[in-house]
Amino acid sequence: MIGEKMQDVINKQIQAELYSSYLYLSMAAYAHANNLKGFANWMTVQASEERGHAMKFFDYLIERGGTVKLMAIEQPPVNFKSPLEIFQKTLDHERKVTGLINKLYKTAVSEDDVASQILLQWFITEQVEEEANATEILEKLKMIGDKPSGLLYLDKELKKRGAGKE
Ligand code: FEO
Repeated sequence: MIGEKMQDVINKQIQAELYSSYLYLSMAAYAHANNLKGFANWMTVQASEERGHAMKFFDYLIERGGTVKLMAIEQPPVNFKSPLEIFQKTLDHERKVTGLINKLYKTAVSEDDVASQILLQWFITEQVEEEANATEILEKLKMIGDKPSGLLYLDKELKKRGAGKE
C-alpha cells in the first residue's frame, strides 16, 4: 500500500496534469479563433496527452491501494498574443512540470518507495520529450518571425500530429 506522503504528492500531480490539459485546451481555443487549425490540432492532442498523464497517476494510486482526491483546477489564461507566445508559455509550463516530476522522484526516494520511482522514471523521460517538442516549435516560430507564409506552412505541419500515446 502506498504511503500517505506519496499519495498526497501524487494527488497534487494529478491536479497539475489536469491543469496542463486545461491550459493546452485554452491554447487550442485561441488557435481556432485565429483560424490556425494546425496549431489547434497540436494543442488539442497535447491536452489529451496531459489527461493521459493524469490518468496514469490516477490508475497507479488505485493500484497501490491509495485514495484519489481530485482538487479544483485553476482557470487557465484565455488571452494570448501570438502563436509564438503560446509556445513560449508551453515551454515555460513544461519546464515547471519537469521540476514537479523531479521533486516527486526525490520524494519517492526519500520515502523509500521503489514502485513510485519506477513509475516516475517514465515521466522523467516523457518530460525530456515534452520540452524538446515545445523547444523545436518555438525555435521555428522565432525563425519565421512575422512572415505569414512561414506561419501557414508550420500550421500545415502541426495539423499532422495525430493522437498517439499518452
Ligand atoms: Fe504532463 Fe506536459 O507534462
